[in-house]
Amino acid sequence: MKIVAIANQKGGVGKTTTACNLAAGLAVKGFRTLLVDLDQQRNATHSFELPEVEATLAEVLVGSKKELKDIRDAIYETHIVGLDLVPANIRLALVEKQLTVGEQYRLKDALSKLTEYDFILIDCPPSLGATLTQALLASHHVLVPIAAEYYPLEGVMDLDETIEETKRANESLKILGYLMTRYDKRNGICKEALDKVKGMYGDLVFEAIISTNVSLQTAPAYKKSIYEHAPESKGSENYLFLTDEVLERLEVEEARPLKLVEKKEAS
Ligand SMILES: Nc1ncnc2c1ncn2[C@@H]1O[C@H](COP(=O)(O)OP(=O)(O)OP(=O)(O)O)[C@@H](O)[C@H]1O
Ligand SMILES: [Mg+2]
Repeated sequence: MKIVAIANQKGGVGKTTTACNLAAGLAVKGFRTLLVDLDQQRNATHSFELPEVEATLAEVLVGSKKELKDIRDAIYETHIVGLDLVPANIRLALVEKQLTVGEQYRLKDALSKLTEYDFILIDCPPSLGATLTQALLASHHVLVPIAAEYYPLEGVMDLDETIEETKRANESLKILGYLMTRYDKRNGICKEALDKVKGMYGDLVFEAIISTNVSLQTAPAYKKSIYEHAPESKGSENYLFLTDEVLERLEVEEARPLKLVEKKEAS
């Protein structure tokens, strides 16, 4: 089981879009995948059709030790075969106030027992605070989406420093890669941004580049992954390419592909 945090404290760089479509991509390729929504904005939670939600990640992380729920009570099947989700709740805001060592390891403790999954992806909130610390303590890898814009690296060095510091407590934490998102090849600023990011991080930059693609923006409104919403789109092609590259970087053999079918239709 591999746990990957999707993180960048800058807002709107494509963390949630990447977490949802990479998670769906891994499931489509036959891997048992869990998407954990660690952001009180709940954007990942809203991107999938879920049965009625009773417990969320907030009840697993927030409160006195005695009253915490087991994470298994907060796992829901999505309509995509092989993809489960732990939804978020506004009370996740309280995770920012958790500063004791025991509290900071709550996410790690909860996730590390879920060995039935091949991958766990954590959609992080846009901040560098205690919530991100919990994600970094729980993870083996970090994937950093960077939007192709005028100051692409703004804040990324602070994130790098936070990751380095977290390694004191989580030695095996590694950067899986930097992912260029919202790329428009007709826009010179995007090309400049890519050059800057490659100049800074070299081979750590994924070969996969996520284009600006309107279908990526509309898919969550239909509660669909990009592969169902617009299978022929550039966004679908880009995220499938990223999924393969992530599997290659993690040196994971291809699993037996599951067909992307809606469970309701299949039953
Ligand atoms: N490649 C893309 N092409 C077009 N729109 C995109 C693309 N990636 C993301 N978006 C849109 O940009 C907005 C921000 O993306 P997203 O929510 O994935 O970013 P985020 O980093 O998770 O934001 P936040 O920091 O607020 O959590 C969303 O409306 C999303 O649909
Ligand atoms: Mg987000």
